[in-house]
Amino acid sequence: MAEDEKRETEISKLTITNKLYGRNIERAQIIRLFNGVGKGEGLVLAVPGVSGAGKTALIQTLKRPVKINNGFFISGKFEQYQKDIPYFAFRQALVSFYHSLYTEDQLIRDKFTHLIQKAVGALGQVLTDLVPDFEKLLGKQPELAVVSPQEARHRFYALFHRLIRAISLPEHPLVLFIDDWQWADMASIELLKNLQVGTELRYLMLIVAYRQNEVDIHHPLTTTLNELQLNEIPFKRIEVQNLNHQNVYHFLKETLLPEAYRLEELAQIIHEKTKGNPFFIKSACIIFQLVRCFGLMK
Ligand SMILES: Nc1ncnc2c1ncn2[C@@H]1O[C@H](COP(=O)(O)OP(=O)(O)OP(=O)(O)O)[C@@H](O)[C@H]1O
Ligand SMILES: [Mg+2]
Repeated sequence: MAEDEKRETEISKLTITNKLYGRNIERAQIIRLFNGVGKGEGLVLAVPGVSGAGKTALIQTLKRPVKINNGFFISGKFEQYQKDIPYFAFRQALVSFYHSLYTEDQLIRDKFTHLIQKAVGALGQVLTDLVPDFEKLLGKQPELAVVSPQEARHRFYALFHRLIRAISLPEHPLVLFIDDWQWADMASIELLKNLQVGTELRYLMLIVAYRQNEVDIHHPLTTTLNELQLNEIPFKRIEVQNLNHQNVYHFLKETLLPEAYRLEELAQIIHEKTKGNPFFIKSACIIFQLVRCFGLMK
């Protein structure tokens, strides 16, 4: 086989595991909190951590347990350059809810359609304006009265609240994962402030993940999270830390074997250089593997 072809084959075989290292405690904590949600212990869970620490990856591991417990896991993320679109991440989450309804059987879908219809009442158009897909489920909605911007905002909160209450149920607890709050628009932050999670919305777990290094004490998210706690909204915080030396060692061992030399030493250096940040460790592993493929590392 020609050298180039051989290399191509080697590169196509490159695999970097999606396994998470050093997260057993956090995973168990999140699952325990979710189990409480099914019993009506709804809450806001803040998940801070530096960029690349593994916030998103950790929270995604909740998908399976939620599914097994007949819950819904829906998610959306804010984008750095979409700050001028209000409720961007919430829209995405509702789109993901709409699609997950279609993976359920007809009986469940009918049940939820009925619940949503009843909940939104005459405000259905607020929902179909936000996520047009819902028109396919609910049909054409009655036209909304023209109101002032302030009234429209309150109408929106009311609609959102009713909708979430209708779709978070003891037999179907809801996980609403909203990621990257460092880029949230002000309207979304206001919405977060106004959601009565845990009191009115008892079967809801609202996960708020954000880059700690981009949210200082002056960021509106910080003030809002403080306010939620002052207002006695059930609130927990799980900080996602970088990995320790032992985690880094296992990460490298399982990713680079069978051909890794002086692993202890390598783990030490990588840990020092990356500070244990999974994103950088993973990038380093990819580079090692590529270097190996190109035959530069003997
Ligand atoms: N504990 C871990 N063990 C191994 N790999 C991990 C771990 N946590 C995250 N990763 C990997 O590291 C990369 C970064 O993780 P992730 O995207 O979850 O970070 P993040 O904190 O959400 O970053 P950002 O702030 O940029 O959104 C991903 O490729 C992920 O699969
Ligand atoms: Mg992330």
